Order: sequence, then C-alpha cells, then structure tokens
Amino acid sequence: MKQLIFAANWKMHLGPDGARAFLTAFLEGHRRLPDREVWFFPSAVALEAVVSLTRGHPDIRVGVQNVYWEPKGAFTGELGIPMAREGGAEASLVGHSERRHIFGETDAETGNKVRALLEHELIPMLCVGEKIDEREAGETLAVVERQLGVLQQHDAAALAKVVIAYEPVWAIGTGKTATPSDASQVHAFIRGWFADRGVAPQDARILYGGSVKPANIQALVSDAEIDGVLVGGASLDPGAWSEIVGTKLD
Ligand code: 13P
Repeated sequence: MKQLIFAANWKMHLGPDGARAFLTAFLEGHRRLPDREVWFFPSAVALEAVVSLTRGHPDIRVGVQNVYWEPKGAFTGELGIPMAREGGAEASLVGHSERRHIFGETDAETGNKVRALLEHELIPMLCVGEKIDEREAGETLAVVERQLGVLQQHDAAALAKVVIAYEPVWAIGTGKTATPSDASQVHAFIRGWFADRGVAPQDARILYGGSVKPANIQALVSDAEIDGVLVGGASLDPGAWSEIVGTKLD
C-alpha cells in the first residue's frame, strides 16, 4: 500500500494560542488512516504546543521550518538542531523557496543543513522547484537536478531518509497548481535520480506542494508518482485541512 504524507507548513502563522485552537478543532474529528501520516511544521514558538497536543497520535509527526547547521553557540536568532529535537521535532524543512528567494539561502547552505540534520537523526524535507521563467525556458529538470546536487555526498541509506517536496515556485500561494501530470513528470525524474544512487523507487518519498486545496487534492495524491503533499494556505483552516488529510484515493 502506498504510504502518503500530508504535511502542513504553517509558515509565519499561528503562535501557541492559534496552534492550540487549530488542533482542538482538527483533532476532534481526526481518525487515523493506515495509509497515511500527518506532519505539522509550526513556528518554533508553537512547537511545544503542537508536540504536546498531538502526543498519543502515532500518525502525527511534528517538525520545524528551518534550522542552523552548527549545534550551538553564538548564532543569534538561529535554531539549533539539538534544541529542535529536544523540543520534540522529528524533521525540518530545508531549502523552502521562501528561504531561497526571500532570505537568499544558497544551495551550499541548504546542503549544510541537510548534512547536519542527518547527523542528528532528524528527517530533512528538502524543497526543490523552478521559478516561472525557468519553467518557460524549459529548465525545470535542470534546476531540480542542481538543487538535488546538495544530496550528492550522501549514501543510499542516508538518502532514503530524506523526503523531497517538489514545489514549483510559480504555484506557491498563487492559486495555480501544477497539473498532476506536470508534477508527475518531475517526480518521476526525482525518483530516477534517487534510483541511480541506490534508493529503491518505493523508498523515495516525493511530495508535491503549491496551491494544494480540497478541490485538487484527490487528483494529486491518486497519481502513482505523488507520495503526498506539502500545504501552506489550506493547512491553516482546520476544516480544509481535515478534508485534505481525509481524502479518499481514486
Ligand atoms: P501554498 O499551499 O499556500 O501554495 O504554499 C505551498 C508551500 O509553500 C508549502 O510549503
């Protein structure tokens, strides 16, 4: 059975009170389904609230949105991986397009974060995806391949722990979704990249992100290449999020 991941990236929304209110509403109707996990990436200040309220739900995992690669020290404003772990995080987003394009995060920095997360046994969820001009220039796969290059140094056992989120930048927060077949093509390319490095196709976990909502979720996750979704806007509404995580496959 295909195992799906439904991941909520709350971005810079929902502090501890907002997170508690969201989870109280969401968990009331939540039923565990055997073919899926639900992941939350709250703000760092809401991590504790989310971890404590979701304890006792083995299908729910919690991560952070960003980390620094040094374990501790004089790095004002940064979040160390051991601290995130201590706070209950099991994963971290890495290389989200907002980190790359608003905060200027480079591939080298993204690579440092992936390496440090693997060293500390947190799951890196590496986000990749092209901008609209790159897509129009036919460079989608070249961009994705360059972004995957930060994984080059890792062996198959380490690579199998990494989750990839393919998020075309032009689809994030714009209401434009890649069609399942557009996404499927890029996912197949990523799966091939992993297979070339010894990761069995069924062990690679490749999510789609970009304007996912109740109206388009079923077609996306029913595609054999799509192992789940990373959702921004629609993950902030408990009703929409319940519909998304409860989607029946075609
Ligand atoms: P939206 O779902 O709001 O388009 O955001 C996608 C995203 O960036 C998830 O990481």
